Amino acid sequence: MQPPHAVSQSESDTNLTSRRAQWQARSLDAHTRALLAEDERYFLRQSVSTPCLNAIAKAEGIWIEDTAGRRYMDFHGNNVHHIGYGHPRLKKAIAEEMDRLPFAPRRYACATSTALAKKIAEIAPGRLSKMLFTTGGSDAIEVAVKIARTATRRHKTLSFWDAFHGAGFGASALSGEVLFRSGPAAPVVAGDQHVAPFACYRCPYGHDSDADGQPVLERCKLACAKMVDYVLSRETDVACLVAEPARAVPYVPPPGFWRAVREACDRYGTLLVFDEIPTGLGKTGRMFACEHDGVEPDILVMGKALGGGVLPIACVVTRPDLDVGGDVAFGHYTHEKNPVTARAALTTIEIVEDERLVENAARVGAAALERLHAMKRRLPAIGDVRGRGLLLGVDLVRDRDAKTPDADLAEAVLYRALDAGLSFKTTMGNVLTFTPPLTVTTDEMMRALDIVESAIAAGA
Ligand SMILES: Cc1ncc(COP(=O)(O)O)c(C=O)c1O
Repeated sequence: MQPPHAVSQSESDTNLTSRRAQWQARSLDAHTRALLAEDERYFLRQSVSTPCLNAIAKAEGIWIEDTAGRRYMDFHGNNVHHIGYGHPRLKKAIAEEMDRLPFAPRRYACATSTALAKKIAEIAPGRLSKMLFTTGGSDAIEVAVKIARTATRRHKTLSFWDAFHGAGFGASALSGEVLFRSGPAAPVVAGDQHVAPFACYRCPYGHDSDADGQPVLERCKLACAKMVDYVLSRETDVACLVAEPARAVPYVPPPGFWRAVREACDRYGTLLVFDEIPTGLGKTGRMFACEHDGVEPDILVMGKALGGGVLPIACVVTRPDLDVGGDVAFGHYTHEKNPVTARAALTTIEIVEDERLVENAARVGAAALERLHAMKRRLPAIGDVRGRGLLLGVDLVRDRDAKTPDADLAEAVLYRALDAGLSFKTTMGNVLTFTPPLTVTTDEMMRALDIVESAIAAGA
């Protein structure tokens, strides 16, 4: 039987380990300890959240600053900080909107929400141009499923094991992580089906990758895409397939994967829903991760960074011909047309465009990947490096041939990096996951990778 924290590690580093307790014992001052005690006194404890690691007092640009005045480059940021924390143009726009129109009850149109919708229709892939806004990503995912159910008159869903799509009951059912599907989330929604995802370095279908972690397509023949086709051919009444086009672990899809899956969806009348909540608005070096694969989903969901790292807003956008639910309720969320969150989103997109942040993500990400590959040649503890743009991962192993995950080393590296001024999270226990703001410079990225390299080289 695994200890409980082994399960939590699928999502993040856990708040239960002795390494964390040791780090806190030597790193936190009395004021911070008192704050954490107060936090724990009022907030319910839960996995990978409360009790907290540390307390922060400032967030600016790529930096967070703790209550003891130490600064960390934030290469996690829950993927909300694409434009950097506290962008002055964003703060000004939000303040002005609050003065102009602080709220719009749902029965009223307002110019800011409409302007945001128009902008999203411009940047969204292909024909995606009709949308709804929600406050959070989980809600938006559930709206997407409701749209698919309405349009197809089916109720089943297909999604990937190991994915996370949100914490609501519906989104939990789509998620493929035990932590979010079991316990209080169970029983999950009937009709949710799962299939093993693409993961070329640790292929669930048993195929070996090459020395660079790339798929050998002549051998695997895209078994992962074929399984999606197989399931849809048997379970012929699936409303939608919900998936992240680039997985947060991170894993990028093997070439041709999404085209093959798109064809399978079309063959069986299943709608394709892309969850771009962390990847949308440029994280992977394209405005949307699915653009790398040249595949247009039927429905796309974005969130997180959409509110500029200040306000919560998410969006589900689809094609005009899927606007077939005029007589049903998809969401009816209180803040559906909130002009202040809409202004935050509109200004965030304008900043991403005006400051050419997508291009920066592609450029800095490419330099980082090159550096990580060089690091892999020097450090045998690195089994695989992967990612796209500023969604990057380093898979740490005890043994390169056996690919045995080294969660212990990953944890040691995480706390050592914090000591050196870099914050990031681990995924699946052993994968160092770097998702810095899109404003990060190559110099800052290299400084962060210097920290990572010496922390790995120091061993567990
Ligand atoms: C891929 C993905 N989908 C959905 C969500 C849920 O978003 P929210 O926390 O805004 O509900 C997350 C959040 O981490 C996510 O990473």
